[in-house]
Amino acid sequence: MISPHGGTLVNRVVEGAERDALIAKAAQLPQFPLNSREASDLEMIAVGAMSPLEGFMGQADYDSVVANMRLANGTAWPLPVVLATKGGFDAPAVGSEIALVGEDGTVYGTMQVSDVWAPDKKNELDKCYSGSGSQADESHPAWGYLSSIGDTYVGGAIVVANLPGYEKHNDYRLTPVQTRAAFAERGWNTIVAFQTRNPIHRAHEYLTKVALEQTDGLLVHPLVGDTKSDDIPSDTRMECYHALLSKYYPLDRTMLGVYPQAMRYGGPREAILHALCRQNYGCTHIIIGRDHAGVGSYYGTFDAQAIFQNFEPGEIGIDTLLFEHAFYCKLTGGMASTKSSPASNEDKIFLSGTKVREMLTNGERPPAEFTRPEVADILIAAYAAKETANA
Ligand code: ADX
Repeated sequence: MISPHGGTLVNRVVEGAERDALIAKAAQLPQFPLNSREASDLEMIAVGAMSPLEGFMGQADYDSVVANMRLANGTAWPLPVVLATKGGFDAPAVGSEIALVGEDGTVYGTMQVSDVWAPDKKNELDKCYSGSGSQADESHPAWGYLSSIGDTYVGGAIVVANLPGYEKHNDYRLTPVQTRAAFAERGWNTIVAFQTRNPIHRAHEYLTKVALEQTDGLLVHPLVGDTKSDDIPSDTRMECYHALLSKYYPLDRTMLGVYPQAMRYGGPREAILHALCRQNYGCTHIIIGRDHAGVGSYYGTFDAQAIFQNFEPGEIGIDTLLFEHAFYCKLTGGMASTKSSPASNEDKIFLSGTKVREMLTNGERPPAEFTRPEVADILIAAYAAKETANA
């Protein structure tokens, strides 16, 4: 089994008497509110999905990550994982302990405050979210998030008694310990992760099938934390994944689990984050296609592939499976990419996101070469329900 990033799978969740004691202690501490992205990060840290992080980053790690894509001790890490102040709540003192509380009032656990500082958010935006397309600016979703939180970051190790609770998909909320055990039980040595924030269309399906030709198993690992309001909600996507996988995938070689992280729309740097976290889940490979975790035109089409070359062999344990733009090719009569088909543009079935949305809103199935009819029907129903709710 592949080693977790940094060597040890972190566990910050306490149980039994230790948990009872933590809950009693937290009740006496000043409460510090977490927004939903921070709650997702807390969950990821606590269950080891963000190993080697044991808490929200302190200033030395933050500065080093923003400048060099490495933690202060040199371990590869691409993006800040931080806790910010909120309006009406003062920053706690360094050395104090705080109770971490969710938006629904759940006390998750405690944090020993090691660092309190004022970050340079404009620098964070510029360094972490710019690509070869353009510099990140105030229209980038990352700025939407950064400008919504307070101006002070608070870092320190966490201990968790209660993970955030969810109403749905709990059977698929597998921790790294659980996915690792499931892979071992199935006898899989090589496992490819598929990160996605979309329904699986034919191009996505093609990547996963090509990857499956070369590996023992596939972990379909949709991101279910916060996404942009125009991305398809995770509940609808889960319906699509079930419909697709049950009919079109070899279920003895495919697993579905959810990935409780918020999208950063960080393109190349986020591709590294997605890769390192999947290594923690026990995956040996991750698919990185075109414009991975992209948004707008900030990133070049293959920036998220090229960025891995900034790391020495051994710095990142998981391997990448890289893909060029995939499409249905009328000339060869199958799915292909620019690497495997000589097709001209007229031979490629390609639909823009806007066109697909338009068709689905009008109750029209996109061509079967673009998306499976079972998936199209779920999306058409979801768009219709949204229209009714908005009417
Ligand atoms: S992402 O934000 O999670 O990257 P998306 O769900 O669209 O968005 O993509 C999932 C993965 O499939 C990413 O690695 C992305 O690069 C890849 N991908 C999506 N569409 C294509 C395509 N047509 N050709 C090649 N790769 C693709």
